[in-house]
Amino acid sequence: DTKTPSLYGAYRGIFNIGAAVGTRSIRREREFIAAHYNSLTAENQMKFEEIHPEEQRYDFDAADEIVKFAEQNGMAVRGHTLVWHNQTPDWVFEDENGAPASRGLVLERLESHAYAVMGRYRGRIHAWDVVNEAVEDKKESYLRDTKWLSTVGEDYLEQAFRIAHKADPSASLFYNDYNETDPVKRDKIYRLVRSLLDAGAPVHGIGMQGHWNLHGPSIGEIREAIELYASLGVRLHITELDISAFAFDDRRSDLPAPTEEMQNLLAQRYDDIFRLFRDYRSVIDSVTFWGAADSHTWLDNFPVRGRLNWPLPFDRELKPKPAFWRIVEHS
Ligand code: XIL
Repeated sequence: DTKTPSLYGAYRGIFNIGAAVGTRSIRREREFIAAHYNSLTAENQMKFEEIHPEEQRYDFDAADEIVKFAEQNGMAVRGHTLVWHNQTPDWVFEDENGAPASRGLVLERLESHAYAVMGRYRGRIHAWDVVNEAVEDKKESYLRDTKWLSTVGEDYLEQAFRIAHKADPSASLFYNDYNETDPVKRDKIYRLVRSLLDAGAPVHGIGMQGHWNLHGPSIGEIREAIELYASLGVRLHITELDISAFAFDDRRSDLPAPTEEMQNLLAQRYDDIFRLFRDYRSVIDSVTFWGAADSHTWLDNFPVRGRLNWPLPFDRELKPKPAFWRIVEHS
């Protein structure tokens, strides 16, 4: 349809519009992706276990393909992610006997990893999610209990940002997390980034993942989180936006394809959310969807096997949904 406007075109001069992709989507949906997005994130291909599966082996093929596709189409790239508790191989945290590695060894490995990965794309990946999801969801505790924390100690975050800055001094460095609008977790994320900045660590931005749903969080809660994070003087990226049809604790498996009512609700949510993002265009540089269209979303089969989801502005046939029109039709 030649009359469909470009999603990123509608946001030119406001902020970048990105999508998380894998090699399969950029091969199958090349033109669609290039038409609507001007930023890409590798959905899995730059994660530790994929790009550096064994100590002496890196596999850059898939990441290279994504970066090349982005460059050919004049798109930005966000690097995702260096330090995370998921999708990171066990060898990183073990010595040659399988016992917990020393702090020094783990930091050495992080440094080699960051130099190899960030170094390879130096100057081509403008923003990196240096640390992902380090804050605990449970109210009682602060940092998530991970192997990074237990082997290195509490300053692993500060070390990660310092190492990343040496590996690519030109990259903007982000702390990225989910449930980022929950008032209790939000305050912990604030406290963490505040303490990193106080220690002089090179943190340039906060990534708000934006895994939200039809019912929450409220626009007020999102606004409060944006205000609080922005008060730190850092940039904000929305890094993994999708609006699930289901609340987090909704485990029903028997829902049919989206009703018109659901389509309209999704459109209204996206409209409200993008209105808010536009209000904060002076601090938000980039809004990335976690997927380019409903043809591929991590929310299919998650957390309920066999259940499909419809969280994005384009449907399974890559056709714009009512949500798309509400996002692009702004003055
Ligand atoms: C998800 C991917 O979409 C899936 O394909 C993979 O199996 C698991 O990870 N938060 C993040 C992302 O920071 O890296 C996750 O991506 C989704 C939640």
